[in-house]
Amino acid sequence: MSTELKITRPDDWHLHLRDGDMLAAVLPETARHFARAIIMPNLVPPIVTGDHARAYRDRILTALPEGMTFEPLMTLYLTETTDPDDLAAAFESGLIKAVKLYPAGATTNSASGVRNFENVRAVLERMADIGCPLCIHGEVTTGDVDIFDREAVFIDTVLDPLRRAIPGLRVVMEHITTADGVAYAQSADQDLGATITTHHLIINRNHILVGGIKPHYYCLPVAKRESHRQALVAAATSGDKRFFLGTDSAPHLDHLKENACGCAGCFTATNTMSLLAHVFEDQNALSNLEAFASLNGPSFYKLPVNTDTLTLTKGAKAQWPDKIDTPQGPVTVFDPGFDVFWSVTD
Ligand code: NCD
Ligand code: ZN
Ligand code: ZN
Repeated sequence: MSTELKITRPDDWHLHLRDGDMLAAVLPETARHFARAIIMPNLVPPIVTGDHARAYRDRILTALPEGMTFEPLMTLYLTETTDPDDLAAAFESGLIKAVKLYPAGATTNSASGVRNFENVRAVLERMADIGCPLCIHGEVTTGDVDIFDREAVFIDTVLDPLRRAIPGLRVVMEHITTADGVAYAQSADQDLGATITTHHLIINRNHILVGGIKPHYYCLPVAKRESHRQALVAAATSGDKRFFLGTDSAPHLDHLKENACGCAGCFTATNTMSLLAHVFEDQNALSNLEAFASLNGPSFYKLPVNTDTLTLTKGAKAQWPDKIDTPQGPVTVFDPGFDVFWSVTD
């Protein structure tokens, strides 16, 4: 017997597409299922001006295979020298939909990020005035804070003071990984949202470390203990408008992950919708999958929901490639570690 679930076509509110050959290899994996995605600006060098964002958007559209439709929602990478006028012009023209804040040193390609928050205050005030959302990688980077505590400490020492200092600033807590993150997002009734990744709904820190080190489960923020994963699942499957899908699908070549100093990032673009259907069904919450993947994100970003649909069918074991090939080598697709019976069929 097969079961069908038809939902509004989903969007991905946090995606890494990279550039060049990697962009060409991974873009179809997203465009096959998702109508739009918020495109992360952490290229080398990063996307810091409106001109960079326009050129990057054009490269993405050029890389899109014939017959596929996809709308890249561009972002700027906030630096201590971001020009507020350039940012405002890019937002008001519709070119960018958000600005991304990386604390310097927090994650992949974040060296140009913010060190001293006083130096971006004027830009953030301008963003609050014009309603431009700030997407935040919420981890402190100080060496004395344990890596498993970095999100919770960031919320207390940076995020909450920042939101109090700049009322009206619209903030997305990106890829939350803790019960603390869930609780903080639930504490605000407007201007605060949170994305949750596919992999953080599935793995906890044991998956990375038990029985040998598993580099393909290493991402940032690093997966936490099981109780935190359960809090994320409860939030994502609740239907609560403040939580929406941001896969953080982050391709790295296998040899750079299977390495003495392996890169952070899980690649989930290919199988995210199958995996989410599995997770939501497991919680008896299939009826909230559409809210999480297709409705809550547009609502936060004040964009229309998509008009077409995606159909998931439960039947035979879902199939996807183990790896996506690029001219520089393969990228491993995230392996949930269990069989999945939901496939995208239309
Ligand atoms: C991301 C990447 O590879 O660009 N990696 C990750 O582990 N999530 C960066 C990020 O989103 O922090
Ligand atoms: Zn991040
Ligand atoms: Zn990311």
